[in-house]
Amino acid sequence: MARSVVTEAVALEGRAPQGWSEPRLAHVGGFTALEEELDYRIGTAEIRGRVPASVRGTFFRIGPGRNSLGGQKFGHWFDGDGMLHALTFTDEGAWYRNRYVRTPKYVRETAAQQVRCRSFGHNAPGGWLKNIGRPPANCANTSMVWHGDRLLALWEGGRPWEVDPVSLATVGECDYGGRLRPWEPFSAHGSVHPNGCYYNHGVSMGLTGPRINLYEVSPAGRLQRKSHFRIDRLAFVHDAGMSARYKVFLVHPLGLGNPLPFMLGLKAFDECVEFRPEWGMKAYVVSLETLAVERVFELPPFAVFHLGNCRERGDELVLELVRFEDYAVAEALRNVFTCDASQGGQPWQLRLNLRTGQVAGQPLPMAASCEFPQWDLRYSAGESRYLYSAAIADNGTPGFFNAIQRLDTETGAVTLHDLGPGRFTSEAVFVAEGQAEGDGYLCAVVYDARNHRSEVLLLDARSAALEEVAAVPLRHHVPFGFHCGYTSRAFLPA
Ligand SMILES: [Fe+2]
Repeated sequence: MARSVVTEAVALEGRAPQGWSEPRLAHVGGFTALEEELDYRIGTAEIRGRVPASVRGTFFRIGPGRNSLGGQKFGHWFDGDGMLHALTFTDEGAWYRNRYVRTPKYVRETAAQQVRCRSFGHNAPGGWLKNIGRPPANCANTSMVWHGDRLLALWEGGRPWEVDPVSLATVGECDYGGRLRPWEPFSAHGSVHPNGCYYNHGVSMGLTGPRINLYEVSPAGRLQRKSHFRIDRLAFVHDAGMSARYKVFLVHPLGLGNPLPFMLGLKAFDECVEFRPEWGMKAYVVSLETLAVERVFELPPFAVFHLGNCRERGDELVLELVRFEDYAVAEALRNVFTCDASQGGQPWQLRLNLRTGQVAGQPLPMAASCEFPQWDLRYSAGESRYLYSAAIADNGTPGFFNAIQRLDTETGAVTLHDLGPGRFTSEAVFVAEGQAEGDGYLCAVVYDARNHRSEVLLLDARSAALEEVAAVPLRHHVPFGFHCGYTSRAFLPA
């Protein structure tokens, strides 16, 4: 376990947010809104450390930019309006900008300065008549992908939103030229295959019952094939694994129990979500050649939101994930603005034997509970050794993710980079340099509760202690978000 030494303090003005006096709540200032949409440059003299010459691409980060409106808190962190942040690294320093995604929810509620829409965690005001039959509004706040010359802001239950990668201006809802139908949701998590295709999915209620829809987008950005298959219930299938020849969907017993109160507008969606182990759990293995289910496995039930890499070893599919024993994290997520939300999961390896049908699994070593598994994406769908994650270290200010963890799955060695008291993060994405797996950096946004500011941090992914190589200070905080991404494309104004 080690922590990089910060050798130079960055002078920033800011205010210590409410909660800093209570160490377990030091993080809560990270949930305050960022109303401003900004665009500015940061010179090399302002950067702590030195950004490596190989890092000259664009780092994207997405998450709720505001969690309340007109003095009224949204019902859930998941309801926050999506804000994209981008930092392009240049020879002269970096260029930062941020913009809200102009979804109908954002536009309508901003004009009214009031909560107007039904969302995941709250109903629209006005009683059941204002909510009956209405789906939660698309917040475009969960993840993003740069693929097929499009930057897409992704949500769980609706269409993606296209955003200009330079200005972050909203282009509009993306339906892939009409090929993505209105009733076909597009998940927050897809996978780019080594062949260049992008595979995404969405859970919906079809004519014959709940189903998973699968989409194949060509390297040029054309939605070229679709399929779907039945599942047992309307489960949350937030993420999926991908090997060279298969997609793997883990359908856990977490989903809508009795959907009627939601459909009738009596309860919010979140209030109807249940975790019931007796529903069982299945893994559906889908061939990427035919887009048809090839094998279904039954698993001992657990909850899972994010998967790591997946590869084929002989007859087996071997995949990493972060496992939760139940959905106790739901309570923390509902009250995340005011409570200690430090509930991570256990890294886990799952093995599915395609010949015998056998299932095996084992916990992987960890220094601290974690979420947001990431890896060197150049090795996607193949053998990879390192698994990176956001973790919760015991440094006196838990509350939220406050560390970045590296696991060597070959040796079991775990390295924890503790960000230090009052410093918090979420997902860290791998930025490649060199050829070998793990040659590169981990890039993440870090929120510092002491001055209510954020910075974009680069850690050396190869170093013994995940040492810090550079930190780009921002002039404000970045509200806590979910996912991030990096492309070697340097998006800069013409
Ligand atoms: Fe996610």
